[in-house]
Amino acid sequence: MPTAAEVRAAIRKDPLWFPRVVLGHTYWSRQGELYRALHECDRVAAKGGHATGKTFSAADYVLEFAATNPGAQVVILGPTFEQAKGGLWKDVRAAYYSAKTPIGGVMGADSWTLGERWFVRVRGADKPESLHGVHGAHVLIVIDEAAGLRDELWSAVDSLLASDGAKLLLLFNPTRPTGYARDACANPAFRVVTLSCLEHPNVTSGENVYPGAVTKAWVDDVRRRCDLTRDEDYWRGHVLGEFPAADPDSLIGMPDLEASLAAKTKDVPRLGLDVARFGSDRNVLVHVTADREARLVEEWSGQDLMYTAGRLMRAVRELGVSPAMTFVDSCGVGGGVVDRCREAGVPVVGVDAGSKATGRWAHLVGRETTFANRRAEMFWALRCICKSVAVSIPRDFWADLGMIRVAYRGNDIAIRSKEDMRKEHGRSPDRADALALAFAAPQSAFFFEVL
Ligand SMILES: Nc1ncnc2c1ncn2[C@@H]1O[C@H](COP(=O)(O)OP(=O)(O)OP(=O)(O)O)[C@@H](O)[C@H]1O
Ligand SMILES: [Mg+2]
Repeated sequence: MPTAAEVRAAIRKDPLWFPRVVLGHTYWSRQGELYRALHECDRVAAKGGHATGKTFSAADYVLEFAATNPGAQVVILGPTFEQAKGGLWKDVRAAYYSAKTPIGGVMGADSWTLGERWFVRVRGADKPESLHGVHGAHVLIVIDEAAGLRDELWSAVDSLLASDGAKLLLLFNPTRPTGYARDACANPAFRVVTLSCLEHPNVTSGENVYPGAVTKAWVDDVRRRCDLTRDEDYWRGHVLGEFPAADPDSLIGMPDLEASLAAKTKDVPRLGLDVARFGSDRNVLVHVTADREARLVEEWSGQDLMYTAGRLMRAVRELGVSPAMTFVDSCGVGGGVVDRCREAGVPVVGVDAGSKATGRWAHLVGRETTFANRRAEMFWALRCICKSVAVSIPRDFWADLGMIRVAYRGNDIAIRSKEDMRKEHGRSPDRADALALAFAAPQSAFFFEVL
């Protein structure tokens, strides 16, 4: 067993000594770069594509830092306690138990105690009060899935860093165009390390050099999907480990709307009805034809439920749209419209925009994309469909679509609320809402039929 002084000397000579000799781990080049950066800097931002080994090497560093700095206090933080525990903490425990040399201390379910005020703890940022009480000469805060931390929680993190020499490591997929992680990468105090899937040995060799890490098949699959949906930002964030290039908050840019006019796609026809909630709102009925052309059927004001239901049923009949492809905003008065139609034997689909996302567009938006609610999912699907030139959106929709802004909630994509927009613009983007509703669900589970 080497003495503490010998260990420190060995690490000074070779920063990868601990993972290699004590844990038996070998790294690919960017993991090595990340590990060296941790030795050299107090602030490190590791951004990367999926499964490139960020969490794995961070776990090794947690073990090294705690084991080699008497009195060390390490906090492993995730957007939620469960995420932290199931991610980085799990890797810490796995590396601890498979170490070539016993590392010592008492390993518990969610903490590792090495002595008095010498510990590693797991915390969820969803409970900011749990972030207090970390001080000392050797403080390390590791935030996994850092892009998913809500902006308001960063002040709590900053207070943890108050101790002199405290170290901070952020690990994330740079899928959010704004936020703390993005700011950190522009801050000269941070060393930024990028782990691109394209440079990973599994991908460059096409072999499974590091089992469990990113594969060439996955990268090829994402490329195909991004080509189809022209979603370069998904490719950047999830594969290259680079931040999105597009305008951070507009849902669909003007060039994409203009390009959409050339769309030539076949689909079952659809209807979307956005029901007026306030006196000033309009009821908007949108038809997406079998040639995937969006058209306004009618707009009217007033909250007469019977009139609205009657108008919708007439459209279903006259336009030959299946009730199963007729989507109605079911909040407030809309719920009554859905009930009335059903009662009359036309089983239209009620959509509660505030409910949980369904995941039914995952084949199009990507399995890794998560949403704050169904409204965000519908709008994001519409965006992907528009970018794929698979729906033609005429000019009378553009003003309302231009009002739709993306606002992230943690890592989840959200859309600015109607209430916010009403405050800002004095009206709500009803045409955009009705159009998004028309795409509340794909027709079937088969990709080429539903895009
Ligand atoms: N150097 C390595 N040696 C052996 N296995 C590794 C190594 N690096 C990563 N792995 C394995 O590859 C898989 C992915 O690694 P990891 O979870 O660290 O990636 P990540 O970059 O954190 O991914 P995500 O962006 O999805 O969080 C894990 O199963 C991990 O055990
Ligand atoms: Mg990870």
